[in-house]
Amino acid sequence: MARIVLGVGGGIAAYKVCSLLRLFTEAGHDVTVVPTESALRFVGAPTWEALSGRPVHTDVWSDVPDVPHVRLGQEAELVVVAPATADLLAKAAHGLAGDLLTNVLLTARCPVVMAPAMHTEMWDHAATQANVSTLTERGVHVIPPASGRLTGVDTGPGRLPEAAELYAVCQRILAHATHDHAQGRAPLPLRGRHVVVSAGGTREPLDPVRFLGNRSSGKQGYALAAVAARRGATVTLVSANSSLPAPAGVAVLPVETAVELQEAVEKAALDADVVVMAAAVADFRPARYADAKIKKSHDPDDPERAPSIELVRNPDILAGLVQARAEATSPVIVGFAAETGDADGTVLDHGRAKLRRKGCDLLVVNEVGVDTTFGQDDNTVHILRQGSSHVVDAGPASKYDIAAAVWDAVQEIL
Ligand code: C5P
Repeated sequence: MARIVLGVGGGIAAYKVCSLLRLFTEAGHDVTVVPTESALRFVGAPTWEALSGRPVHTDVWSDVPDVPHVRLGQEAELVVVAPATADLLAKAAHGLAGDLLTNVLLTARCPVVMAPAMHTEMWDHAATQANVSTLTERGVHVIPPASGRLTGVDTGPGRLPEAAELYAVCQRILAHATHDHAQGRAPLPLRGRHVVVSAGGTREPLDPVRFLGNRSSGKQGYALAAVAARRGATVTLVSANSSLPAPAGVAVLPVETAVELQEAVEKAALDADVVVMAAAVADFRPARYADAKIKKSHDPDDPERAPSIELVRNPDILAGLVQARAEATSPVIVGFAAETGDADGTVLDHGRAKLRRKGCDLLVVNEVGVDTTFGQDDNTVHILRQGSSHVVDAGPASKYDIAAAVWDAVQEIL
C-alpha cells in the first residue's frame, strides 16, 4: 500500500475529491491531505481529517520540528492534485513555494498526477495551456478535464473527471511506479547506460532558402530522452530541426540533414547500450544543392518552365546500425514506424513486416493521419518485439507515457 499525498486546490470540484480520498483509504493507502487555503472554503479541514485519519495543514508553520514541507514530498510514493486550479498549475509550473502543497510539489520525486478543473475559458487560456505543457514536459501526468456541465449554466471542457476514473489512473501509475521507498529515491533502472535518441525531422536543402522537410515536431523523441534521463541514463539526443527546449540533463546534438544525423548517431552509437531512432529521416534528398537561390524563371529559353528536382536516396540509418551490429547484442536498437492501414494489410501487418525487414529489436508502430501523431501531445502505439508475437499496446496517452512504455520494453531486453 502506498503513501499518497492528496493535494486539493480551491475549486468547487473539491467535493468530488472526498470520494477519491475514500477510494484510496478503502484500498488501504496511507493518505495525507494537503489542501490549499482556498480549498478549505469549499470543504473544511474536519472533513479531510475524518476521512484520512490524519491531521491537515495548509502552511509550512505547523509541526515545524518535523519539517513536513520537505518530509511529506520526499516520503510520498504518489502525489495527486485534484482539482488542480489554474492558479495551482501556474504555481507548480513556475516552482513557487508559498504554502505546504507547493512545497510538497517541489520536494516530491515520485510520480505526480494533476487533474485540472476550471471554467472552459480558464482552461483554454494560453497561459494555462503553456503551464500544462511545461508540467507535462517535466513528466507530470496531467489528466485532461472532462467535458460537460460546469458550475453555472454553461457546459464545456473543465469538469473534474469522476472519482472512480481518477482512482483508476492513479492505481495504474502506482502499479508502474519505480519509486524505491527503502532508499527514498527512484531506483534509476537505466543508471550506467548510455542511450542515443534521434528526434525531429531532417531537412534536405535544395538551395540557400529552400528544403524538403517533414511534419515531425520532435515531441516523441524529446519525451523518450527526458524519460531515459529521469531513469538514470546518460542521454545523447540527436535532434533534427526541433524547436523544443533541451530536456533536463540531456546532451543535445543539433543536426539538419539525414547525412548529418547519420554521422552523429553512428558516432554516438559506438559506446551506446541503446539507440532509439525516433527521428523522421527523409528517404530522399535533392541530387544537387544550388549555391544560389533557384530563380522563378530559371530557364532563359522558357521563363514559364518550373524546374524539376532530381532526388537521390538517403542512407537508411536504422538498417545501417543493425548491419554494423551484426551478431552482437549491443546496442539494443529501436525503430519507429509511422504506418497507415491499406488494402494490403492493417497497420500491425505492415509493422510486423517492417520489423522483420529492418532487423531491429523493437519497432514502435503508430498509426498516422493528417491530424494525428504529428505535433500532437498524445500518441497511440503498438510496440513489437523481434521474434515474438506479443504486442504491447500503449495509449492514447501523453508522449511521456508512451516513452515510459518504450523504455519498459527496452529494459526487458537489457
Ligand atoms: O522505413 P521507414 O522510414 O518507415 O522506417 C522508419 C524507421 O527507420 C524510423 O526509426 C526512422 O528513424 C528510421 N529511418 C532511418 N533512415 C532513413 C529512414 C528511416 O534510420 N533513411
